[in-house]
Amino acid sequence: MNAGKGGRKPLAGTIVVKLGGSTLGSHDPTLDDLVELQRRGLRPVVIHGGANVVTDWLKRLGIPTRFVKGLRVTDAETLRVVIAILAGLVNKELVAAIEAAGGRAVGLCGIDGGLLEASVKDSDMGYVGEVSKVNPAPLLALLEAGFIPVIAPLSLEASRQPGDNGYVLNVNGDTAAGMIAAALPAEKLIFLTDVAGILGASGGLMSHLSCAQARGLLDSGVASGGMIPKIEACLAAMDGVRAARIIDGTSPHALIREVEGSMVGTTIG
Ligand SMILES: Nc1ncnc2c1ncn2[C@@H]1O[C@H](COP(=O)(O)OP(=O)(O)OP(=O)(O)O)[C@@H](O)[C@H]1O
Ligand SMILES: [Mg+2]
Repeated sequence: MNAGKGGRKPLAGTIVVKLGGSTLGSHDPTLDDLVELQRRGLRPVVIHGGANVVTDWLKRLGIPTRFVKGLRVTDAETLRVVIAILAGLVNKELVAAIEAAGGRAVGLCGIDGGLLEASVKDSDMGYVGEVSKVNPAPLLALLEAGFIPVIAPLSLEASRQPGDNGYVLNVNGDTAAGMIAAALPAEKLIFLTDVAGILGASGGLMSHLSCAQARGLLDSGVASGGMIPKIEACLAAMDGVRAARIIDGTSPHALIREVEGSMVGTTIG
């Protein structure tokens, strides 16, 4: 097998899949695809989002939300809800659905086994972290044992001290997926989202982007909002993975078609 772009050999058959919020909630056919890929001997690793479910529960619990620069501030009370909803409700529903579809999955978050470490991004934002380190050992153990790891995007705080409070941080799922893919390294990093891929200035699908072209779309603002962390994560993962893809997870059997090579979307790298 050839080495990855950074010279390290990717783990055979390992694909990191980020599930977008648009594909969560009702029964998602993507989960059947994950089970089918596992049956075919591939080794998927799943990272999920769920910000919309967190927003819903904050409302139900009457916890007020404060925004700074358009982003939700994660105070201590909000963080508790984020942990409960992402690592609890969303994560366990996904694992239960994969098990019900005949797959074998174990749910965890970046805290478990010290998988992710992060530093506070901006103190105005509260408990929001920038991932600084991945310890892939827990994932390697689960993959070796034949499980699909299903990961909620939470992290330990890198500079935590024994006895500190609040040493859990909320991290971006796209960024976590890219860092995990690079750390394994995975053969492939796939973002399932709600658009066909990266759209250019004229609105057309860009089927292939070099790293420089992808950076250009960030600089020009053609890629904005939720596409920014995906592109940044693809660029960050280039060191280890062979291919980074952004595809439409709402399209039937997107993942199966992706591994079979017939799925449209954007390749970065
Ligand atoms: N150049 C671009 N090409 C394609 N989509 C873009 C572009 N620029 C911005 N976007 C936006 O990025 C969105 C995808 O990111 P978004 O964060 O909404 O989804 P997700 O990450 O799949 O789900 P979630 O964040 O809920 O987990 C698209 O729906 C689109 O509105
Ligand atoms: Mg997003």
